[in-house]
Amino acid sequence: MNKIKYQTPTGMHDVFGKEQVFYDKVEETAKKLAEFYAFQRITTPILEDQELFIRSVGEGTDIVEKEMFTLKTKGKDLLVLRPEGTAPVFRAYIENGMQSFSQPVKLWYYGPFFRYERPQAGRYRQFWQIGFEFVGDKAPVYDAQTILIAHNLLKDIGFKNIVVSINSIGCEECRKDYKKALNSFLKNKKDLICADCKKRAEKNILRVLDCKNPKCQQVLSEAPQIVDYLCPECKDHFKHVLEYLEEVSIPYRLDPFLVRGLDYYSKTVFEIGFSETDKEEALGSLAGGGRYDSLGKALKSDDIPGVGFSMGVERIIALMKLKNIKYKEKKKESIFIVQVGELARKKTLKIIEELRSQKINVSEAISKESMKLQLTKANKLAINIVLIIGQREALNNTVIIKNMETGKQSIVEQENIVKEIKKRIK
Ligand code: HAM
Repeated sequence: MNKIKYQTPTGMHDVFGKEQVFYDKVEETAKKLAEFYAFQRITTPILEDQELFIRSVGEGTDIVEKEMFTLKTKGKDLLVLRPEGTAPVFRAYIENGMQSFSQPVKLWYYGPFFRYERPQAGRYRQFWQIGFEFVGDKAPVYDAQTILIAHNLLKDIGFKNIVVSINSIGCEECRKDYKKALNSFLKNKKDLICADCKKRAEKNILRVLDCKNPKCQQVLSEAPQIVDYLCPECKDHFKHVLEYLEEVSIPYRLDPFLVRGLDYYSKTVFEIGFSETDKEEALGSLAGGGRYDSLGKALKSDDIPGVGFSMGVERIIALMKLKNIKYKEKKKESIFIVQVGELARKKTLKIIEELRSQKINVSEAISKESMKLQLTKANKLAINIVLIIGQREALNNTVIIKNMETGKQSIVEQENIVKEIKKRIK
């Protein structure tokens, strides 16, 4: 039999140690913001029905065409590892009768998502997203608040010079006219655009707009702009969103060619990133989102408006490292407990529990025999207060408390240990 390969699947990675601390801190920052803005956390299953994404994200999109991890159950159901979070949240909203709650329902999530992409910087097959969704309200003030929350999240993490790119892609009605205009613009230019765009022009013409190929971008610089085709309602909505953003001093850049790669959007769409250096740009956008008022219709349920964003945690962490953003570690006061001999080990096991019940952090190396080895570990952890239970102390129910900085030590009764420690750590 061949040896097993000790390797994660392509595009996936283990998270532990210092890396895990980054993930935890990003999650913590999101959690604090969610509490402030009164968002409830939601956790949906990792697997969802394939149909949910085909209908919502859309058939002609990269996600549905190339990037879904699909599996067939023994019962022959087609399930996919969720590639994004908006459609599952929307499904959960309907399934759990959240229409009867006070609207909008504000939900946030943090978890792993999966896309079968070619792995490269900032692009993985399993990645983590933080998402915030306002479901059930069409007021433009929520579009602005969505962008504000995404902006604040990045600011609280420590980023500066955040760039918000924003556009409106209107509703289905205004898009009809715009698609016609774009189609006639591209009619004589098919030879000038890339092969992918030729296909996009047939299937989903708006997607031509966000092609990154410089040749296509050159052609498109002259293309008609969707904002000039917005109906009065969509125009008014967009105007309000921009006014609200100005009111809260969120700097934005109008990007007439921003359309986003998912079909469920209407009206406002936006992305957040940096465009300072190539390295930053190579990571792609940090966050993306927008309004999805026609998602309900695509899923054949009621017309339920919504707006939200999500943010890629790997990209955030990569940029934190690139920009040397460090979280200030709050040093927790901790103690270390050293034991010598079997009786001392038993007593130590009990003392650890007593300290834990009083929320006092305690580290140990309880399987070790050598006092020297245990003290070395305490030193490495830079712990100032060390408790020592040797054979003598175990027999007469005492503990030595040693201050590693001053070298001063005192002997106390085991039953008074919690009280004595509390005096020392305050
Ligand atoms: P999205 O733009 O597809 O939008 O993804 C949002 C963010 O997820 C991206 O800006 C990026 O940071 C991260 N991301 C996407 N793909 C990968 C990948 N392969 N590896 C690492 N990070 C990645 C959505 O998913 C929408 N659900 C956003 C939304 C929420 N719209 C409304 N509400």
